[in-house]
Amino acid sequence: MRVLVTGGAGYIGSHTVLTLLEQGHDVEVVDNLVNGKAEAVRRVGELAGRDVPLHEVDLTDADATDAVLARGFDAVIHFAALKAVGESTQKPLEYYANNMGSTFTLMDAMRRHDCRTIVFSSSATVYGAKAPVPYVEDYEPLDSSSTYGQTKVMTERILTDVAAADPAWRVALLRYFNPVGAHPSGRIGEDPQGIPNNLVPFIAQVAVGRRDRLSVFGGDYPTADGTAERDYIHVQDVAEGHVVALDAIVGGDAGVHVWNLGSGQGTSVLEMIHAFERASGREIPYEVVDRRPGDLPAFWADPTKAEQELGWRTSRTVDDMCRDTWTWQSQNPQGYDA
Ligand SMILES: NC(=O)c1ccc[n+]([C@@H]2O[C@H](COP(=O)([O-])OP(=O)(O)OC[C@H]3O[C@@H](n4cnc5c(N)ncnc54)[C@H](O)[C@@H]3O)[C@@H](O)[C@H]2O)c1
Repeated sequence: MRVLVTGGAGYIGSHTVLTLLEQGHDVEVVDNLVNGKAEAVRRVGELAGRDVPLHEVDLTDADATDAVLARGFDAVIHFAALKAVGESTQKPLEYYANNMGSTFTLMDAMRRHDCRTIVFSSSATVYGAKAPVPYVEDYEPLDSSSTYGQTKVMTERILTDVAAADPAWRVALLRYFNPVGAHPSGRIGEDPQGIPNNLVPFIAQVAVGRRDRLSVFGGDYPTADGTAERDYIHVQDVAEGHVVALDAIVGGDAGVHVWNLGSGQGTSVLEMIHAFERASGREIPYEVVDRRPGDLPAFWADPTKAEQELGWRTSRTVDDMCRDTWTWQSQNPQGYDA
């Protein structure tokens, strides 16, 4: 298949491009490089043994997006978005304009060029604060406390409405839990700009000496060790989940399909710190500070639907995630900029 990957210069996108190439697909990337790196796409090409075309285009630019889609694709995997939860609440207009605007122009161009198959990066954040744990796909109403999360809720709705109006659309909504880890080669991985927003990239930067210590937000949650629990999932498992979801919507019924991509298990912040210490052989200094407003104590996926319908489940452990993150971080202490 000819697949266009939006946001393919970013973290999850670059790993998915490599998996698609390994499975014989013909892949091109579109990314404005606001948070991605051309070097990531170059390294993916190096690992796969063939060049990957990168179109440096902002998806909110309708003419430029149309020119990319005019090259002819069978399907799109749509990762491109701004994703910093805290920043989104301070810059709601920028987040709505980018995340919703890019989806509008993309889908409009797809329709014009007769491409109606899309896999969308949604998130566990759409379950909101009230959903019972573990999260199941048919839970309603979807909601989210952040502007970022609302862009995912709204984009899911838009894709659902478009598919209801035109039965030719084939749509997969993939709700990821907490992707971490890196390709085991250490050539590609997560390269956050500035201070990392997520736990594992922060731990990795402490381990490599870029930061002094980690703040653990909240030590008095109603969990086994008092720290928050999340469902961590290896980015390679996430990448493979996209390829099987794409195959399923191409080969199966048209319309909208929703799948959680999670392991079904919670891991606490302290468990993750200790796993990383084992993987890196380094001590991670940390201090427990106040809870962060809006953080939930513990949640994880019910992964049954993806297992039954896609034959997909996670195969990599928390130790694998920490080992591969450490390989990436220790070989690339400054990320792609070194
Ligand atoms: N990483 C996570 O924890 C997580 C969890 C759930 C969902 N997601 C979603 O998965 C997707 C990929 O996440 P990621 O962690 O790889 O993020 P990332 O920032 O590494 O990748 C997103 C890419 O999109 C590009 N981009 C953003 N706006 C664009 C625009 N207007 N035009 C063209 N390119 C644009 C960025 O340059 C970047 O390369 C995002 O939609 C994100 O919201 C991520």
